[in-house]
Amino acid sequence: MRTQVAIIGAGPAGLVLGQLLSNAGIESVIVENRSRDYVEARLRAGVLEQGTVELLRDMGVGQRLDREGLRHDGIYLQWPGTRHHLDFPDLCGRSVWIYGQTEVVKDLVAARLDSGQPLYFEVVDTAVHDLDTDRPSVTFLDSDGTAQRLDADLIAGCDGFHGVSRPAIPASARHTWERDYPYGWLGILAEAPPSTDELIYAWHPNGFAMHSMRSPSISRLYLQVGLDEELDDWSDDRIWAELSTRLGHEGWELTTGPILDKGITPMRSFVSEPMRYGGLFLAGDASHIVPPTGAKGLNLAVADAKLLADAISASYGRRGHDLLDAYAQTALRRVWRCTHFSWWMTSMLHIEGDDPFARQLQLAQLRYLSTSRAAAQSLAENYTGLPYGW
Ligand code: FAD
Ligand code: PHB
Repeated sequence: MRTQVAIIGAGPAGLVLGQLLSNAGIESVIVENRSRDYVEARLRAGVLEQGTVELLRDMGVGQRLDREGLRHDGIYLQWPGTRHHLDFPDLCGRSVWIYGQTEVVKDLVAARLDSGQPLYFEVVDTAVHDLDTDRPSVTFLDSDGTAQRLDADLIAGCDGFHGVSRPAIPASARHTWERDYPYGWLGILAEAPPSTDELIYAWHPNGFAMHSMRSPSISRLYLQVGLDEELDDWSDDRIWAELSTRLGHEGWELTTGPILDKGITPMRSFVSEPMRYGGLFLAGDASHIVPPTGAKGLNLAVADAKLLADAISASYGRRGHDLLDAYAQTALRRVWRCTHFSWWMTSMLHIEGDDPFARQLQLAQLRYLSTSRAAAQSLAENYTGLPYGW
């Protein structure tokens, strides 16, 4: 096969890129190693920045988001005795939307199939070749087991942290920065109406807790847990009791309900450079991972895809290759900003070891956010997302 852009991975980065290219009249083929059902059900992020929402609308995939997404104009920061609301429109003129990654992916897969451009699910043995030539290619076995070869002008590696694209860049040409955190998140999805109108991020001596949601009847909640803890250690009753303790606030009660899903996610910051090697361009988790505390991972993947789509479109027009040549450097500026913000939110809210001094610093920072407009504005600006082109 021959196409203009070969896209590896049908996560948010690959699907957004494919749709933007299709809207610009550029052909692509997407190859994905999981099934459609699997990628549409993979439970992950839930907060969309205003820029992500506007982009999805502009791309023509915002109808269900506008019907079912919940606009949130702030978050609560909590520590014992205080639940403080940050008002985002007042602080920075922007909002965020609650709309699960599962729903974003469903909408994008439907749009891709409507566009008639190829999307291969359940491929195996994906490999990239000839990256340092002007005819790079991707080989794979399709779901019938037939060997396929895809020649392209360029390859977009949107295959997440465990994909084949990043490792295809020679180790001698790669540099990585990494931070593993000594804790993870135990997340649950529960059939229970949210006990809050907006998300609660809670500092507690027992560990961080968060109350998020997916709809007016479904809650999503998280607990900081040790890396040695296993799901079997956490009965449903124990999870609800610990959430009630850590999220507890005078006059407030947590509504419980059947737990539909639970899992433990490790926390990691990771950045790999370069984001471009010859004809291979990385986007999203293939190149960087942030801990989920700042709700940035999905939004950053979409921002990379937007930047790459604009650069590819320009390269087929009169503007030539300047934007493509600048892609890696431009993308990394946002990546490092989000890496810092996610690390900062994580460090401020999670309990690490038994260090009374560190805890006092965390509480001092939280009180500062609740009393200084400048501090609150900085959080709001980063949380709601820096504008594209920043
Ligand atoms: P992905 O969504 O990982 O998509 C990559 C795609 O490539 C996948 O569909 C994969 O199956 C496919 N693929 C991989 N290898 C191959 C191959 N060899 N050939 C073909 N296809 C391949 N972010 C938040 O903001 N909030 C959260 O609460 C949150 N929770 C998370 C929980 C978990 C368990 C994980 C892993 C991530 C979470 N994230 C969260 C991060 C967020 O989900 C990611 O940043 C986002 O999915 C990145 O999108 P992506 O398209 O770059 O990568
Ligand atoms: C979620 O709803 O899953 C969610 C929300 C905010 C975060 C992380 C995850 O910071």
